[in-house]
Amino acid sequence: MSEGPRTWHYGLVARYWAEFNDGFRPHEIPYFQRFVERGQPALDVACGTGRLLLPYLRAGLDVDGCDVSADMIAACREKADREGLAPDLSVTPMHELDPRRRYRTIYVCGAFGIGSTREQDEQALHRFHDALEPGGTLLLDTEVPYADTRLWKYWLAEERDALPEPMPVPETRQIASDGAEYALASRVLEVDPLDQRCALEMRTELWREGALEAEETRRIDLRYYFAEELRLLVERAGFRDVILHGDHVEAVPTPEDEFVVVVAKR
Ligand SMILES: C[S@@+](CC[C@H](N)C(=O)[O-])C[C@H]1O[C@@H](n2cnc3c(N)ncnc32)[C@H](O)[C@@H]1O
Repeated sequence: MSEGPRTWHYGLVARYWAEFNDGFRPHEIPYFQRFVERGQPALDVACGTGRLLLPYLRAGLDVDGCDVSADMIAACREKADREGLAPDLSVTPMHELDPRRRYRTIYVCGAFGIGSTREQDEQALHRFHDALEPGGTLLLDTEVPYADTRLWKYWLAEERDALPEPMPVPETRQIASDGAEYALASRVLEVDPLDQRCALEMRTELWREGALEAEETRRIDLRYYFAEELRLLVERAGFRDVILHGDHVEAVPTPEDEFVVVVAKR
């Protein structure tokens, strides 16, 4: 078994996501849904706690999910159970994807390049290709490297002298459905512009009735891809008719877009 991708989506972070993430970037849900409606069955790669998967199941669409984090999958399953839904979910890193069936659509939202090596990212693209039926569609989004101004400044050598950042004290608390309070803080550890990789650390605290019940510090590594670089990688993995969409709308990207989606056919 190879070393798993370095991501922070475990333990308290997974619990936090399950509680608070459903309303995040809501426009992404109808964007991917239109493609799923045109091509089923579909696979949600790195489905997390089901922000996209669960609405699609509710809409009667045939979608499976997978994720590297057993904690995220467990939370997703729990949420699905509560609604009487029974998705086929598996715990697997995307570069080892080997699903039980073939798909008409595979989408990856907010997850490509997390914690993996470049070789694993290329391997993942080949796995997506193999897991699609001929003519099936891949949708792969990426946040462009210059979108996050907090991180982008550290691509400049003189700014990197300030790294690692000190960990801020988690201040704002969010109240979960069971009354527990979550407080989060994160810091940038390192940025390697040659490898296009940023490492961040998150501190998560769980408070109950004024007392600190649990705290965890976890790291995530993010590899950033430029849009045209990702298009070439997707083509190199054997995909055809590769096009780009900007910010989860079916239109060509603009320099103002923070996300780019690569849409390709097997
Ligand atoms: C930012 S969350 C996005 C979750 C979901 N796609 C969404 O949009 O709500 C990233 C997810 O990717 C998963 N992940 C990170 N690296 C992965 C990998 N190499 N293979 C599979 N899943 C991965 C994490 O466990 C986490 O659930």
